[in-house]
Amino acid sequence: MSHTIAVAIDGPAGAGKSTIAKKIAAKLNYIYVDTGAMYRAMALFLLRRNVHPEDTERISTLCEEADITIRYENGEQVVLLNGENVNALIRTEEVSNMASGSSANPKVREKLVKLQQALAGRENVVMDGRDIGTCVLPDAEVKVYLTAGVSVRARRRFDELTARGEKCSLPEIEADIRQRDHKDMTREISPLRQAEDAVLIDTSDMTIDEAVNAVIDLC
Ligand code: DC
Repeated sequence: MSHTIAVAIDGPAGAGKSTIAKKIAAKLNYIYVDTGAMYRAMALFLLRRNVHPEDTERISTLCEEADITIRYENGEQVVLLNGENVNALIRTEEVSNMASGSSANPKVREKLVKLQQALAGRENVVMDGRDIGTCVLPDAEVKVYLTAGVSVRARRRFDELTARGEKCSLPEIEADIRQRDHKDMTREISPLRQAEDAVLIDTSDMTIDEAVNAVIDLC
């Protein structure tokens, strides 16, 4: 059996993980796996069922009905929710907030972590998320903890949403990010934290290329 190689990138929302991870994957010719998109697809599924983000019991039962898979089209990850391509529907603030609640559910995590581990067993991956280096791929060859100041991250998210034509307010986004950081870092299972063997990169004052090069150097 051939051994696959994994680059694990964790960090809070808006640190630049997906932008940077995608570029690294392209340079290394690895597959980019955006695990947040899987939690978002699950959140969309639950929102459509009108589930409350804190209703643990219902989430545990309902998540069994969500078949989440990923596929690659022209090098882009496409997330399928029960066969439907939901890429265009999972980047709203509503889905973000639901995902932050529902991703704390053990059943949801168990299901998606298995999928992520299976992917990394088949292909060389650059995988980003919150618990990749600590839990999903503890033996990853390279581990990075990517972060940036809260106001920098809020501004980035604001610019991203505005560019997509979504109406939003910067103070609200910053408040949301603070709340999500808090939830992601304090939840009981797989909280967001830097793995002991992960390298910390703060992108607050870095360009995208500088951050990409910093990770490539590690690889
Ligand atoms: O990275 P993102 O904003 O797309 O992630 C959406 C939500 O999913 C976020 O609240 C954290 C959660 N998440 C997680 O718990 N574990 C992961 N590996 C990836 C994302």
